[in-house]
Amino acid sequence: MTFSVFITRKIPEEGIDILKNTCQKVEVNPHDRPPTYDELLKEVKGRDAIITMLSDRIDARLMQEVANLKIVANYAVGYDNIDVKAATARGIVVTNTPGVLTDSTADMAWALLFSVTRRIVEGDKITRAGKFTGWAPMMLLGGDLVGKTLGIIGAGRIGTAMAMRSRGWCMKVLYTTQSRRNTVLEEMLGAKRVDLEVLLKESDFISLHTPLSEKTKHLVGVRELALMKRTAYLINTGRGAVIDEAALVNALRNKQIAGAGLDVYEDEPKLKPGLAGLDNVVLAPHLGSATVETRTKMSLMAAENIIAVLNKQKPPNCVNPEVLIRF
Ligand code: GLV
Ligand code: GLV
Repeated sequence: MTFSVFITRKIPEEGIDILKNTCQKVEVNPHDRPPTYDELLKEVKGRDAIITMLSDRIDARLMQEVANLKIVANYAVGYDNIDVKAATARGIVVTNTPGVLTDSTADMAWALLFSVTRRIVEGDKITRAGKFTGWAPMMLLGGDLVGKTLGIIGAGRIGTAMAMRSRGWCMKVLYTTQSRRNTVLEEMLGAKRVDLEVLLKESDFISLHTPLSEKTKHLVGVRELALMKRTAYLINTGRGAVIDEAALVNALRNKQIAGAGLDVYEDEPKLKPGLAGLDNVVLAPHLGSATVETRTKMSLMAAENIIAVLNKQKPPNCVNPEVLIRF
């Protein structure tokens, strides 16, 4: 059988190479930018499989255009860019890349946490601009970490890994989760599962790791920001829309919270007005999984999911297992 695969962005070669052993046609978007929706519609026609990025909107209309499509392999752990219900209705398998990016994303959350609390980016700007005129007793004072309270919203794989790293700073850990109790965090760190409200009120650092869904959209808005301590920091390496970004701009501007570290944005890649002008926020361009090792593993994982489906086998990382019944 001749299989045809389209990959919406250039990704590490490792996965592309193994796909080429199974599929006659493997094509990669030649542009160094996401395809437009219309380009995507054109490119997916006649494909058996596609590797998609979190920036590609894979909706019912697009899937309807491709009679052959067997699998959408998302090159991300989050898959809110895909209409999974529509995929399931058409018998299309959807897969993601969980696990391999857990550590790199947890590291990124800490990188942001450190950057904002120790004012690394502000300091870098001053130093580069030649404005560092010598050590000063009151220059860029930040906050300490040891013994403080870390609040994890969404204690899944990444939230757990983020929290485990707090051992080095002997932090108290609070968490919320949509699923069952996190026994790892409770046993290893003495973490406590609490209501969102308690977490917001008591935490010195809050890190968001919940997937984006109708339930979690704007989970942190005006009311929630008002519950946070004025000395607290908010970190987001999950999905931008979990925070009401306009409300966050106001809270940061009015010093209602101490600061924020963001890797993701509500209307990515756009920022809400005013955000980029604030000093008490560190802004990263969605780099959570951006390490050579992780991206290589993600490319292999996406390819393995596709190869399994094309061989009528169970893919290792299916998010809509209902469709596999038909295999
Ligand atoms: C990145 O944001 C991902 O979901 O993998
Ligand atoms: C993602 O891997 C998560 O469960 O947090």
